[in-house]
Amino acid sequence: MATPSKTLFEQFLAPIFSHLIDRDALVRLRDSIDWEAGVAEFTNPQVIYPNYYKTSNFHGVKNGYLSTDAALTYDPITQYVLPPGETWVRESLVKAIQGVPRRILDLGCGTGTTTQMLKRRFPGAEVMGLDLSPQMLVMADHKARAAAVEVTFRHGNAMATGLAAAAFDVVCATLLFHETPPAVAKTILAEAFRLLTPGGQLLVLDGNQRTLRATDWLNTVFEEPFIRDYSQGNVDAWLGYAGFEAVRTEDVFWLNQLSSARKPLPLVERGAAAGVEDRPAPDQLPLPQPA
Ligand SMILES: C[S@@+](CC[C@H](N)C(=O)[O-])C[C@H]1O[C@@H](n2cnc3c(N)ncnc32)[C@H](O)[C@@H]1O
Repeated sequence: MATPSKTLFEQFLAPIFSHLIDRDALVRLRDSIDWEAGVAEFTNPQVIYPNYYKTSNFHGVKNGYLSTDAALTYDPITQYVLPPGETWVRESLVKAIQGVPRRILDLGCGTGTTTQMLKRRFPGAEVMGLDLSPQMLVMADHKARAAAVEVTFRHGNAMATGLAAAAFDVVCATLLFHETPPAVAKTILAEAFRLLTPGGQLLVLDGNQRTLRATDWLNTVFEEPFIRDYSQGNVDAWLGYAGFEAVRTEDVFWLNQLSSARKPLPLVERGAAAGVEDRPAPDQLPLPQPA
């Protein structure tokens, strides 16, 4: 593990939040996990890390998410950067899910906080979290086991997951897109479209693009390499481009936004849903009679 002085906690937030974060507990947590074995267990050697991911020091952490420091400090910091409260913000996504999904995929799941909430809300569903960082997955798995929440975690790239097409009723991504170049976000949306069943729901919870555009200093504070590009974009437009319909984005307090969209049903199923199958086919309709 790199020296703790290289973490975001030490570099930036420590002076502000040091009185709120239990450093001894973090060290105890670090020592209670066999990181080497965990990383080996989760690493899929076929996963190729995209350039933006390997070369960016997200949050000022050396090696970005491919480090134990990132996995350890992520939760203690995140609880303070989602006003008015982390659980409230994450719940906005969970509560927006319509119906009772059977299979849910959480892309860029990180330490699995939303993944666990999804399983708690839909105990009958199979819930999977996918992330590019084996270290984040080790942390996610540790937390899920400790909480006795049955979810699975998988090492993978959300741009090309290798999972079967149309396998999920709900696909979601929480706090992922402000961490990726917009071109990557668009590729992930295309992959989410592929993974959803027709009629399935996509949910994206992330930074509020309008707020971030209006308060540029926030983009500096968060030490996110792609957040300015993200804030200049428009998730609604990206969703439309990926082929989604019923696209809707709402503010979640002032710093976040939640987007919901659906993968369209094939035309024939739409017709059935609207009762069109009960109507005579055009070739069975009586021909207009001459006057
Ligand atoms: C800010 S964290 C969000 C984690 C989690 N979703 C949450 O809400 O706390 C962003 C996560 O996205 C992951 N990530 C970034 N690019 C990814 C990609 N192309 N495929 C899968 N995961 C990715 C990172 O490893 C990191 O864990």
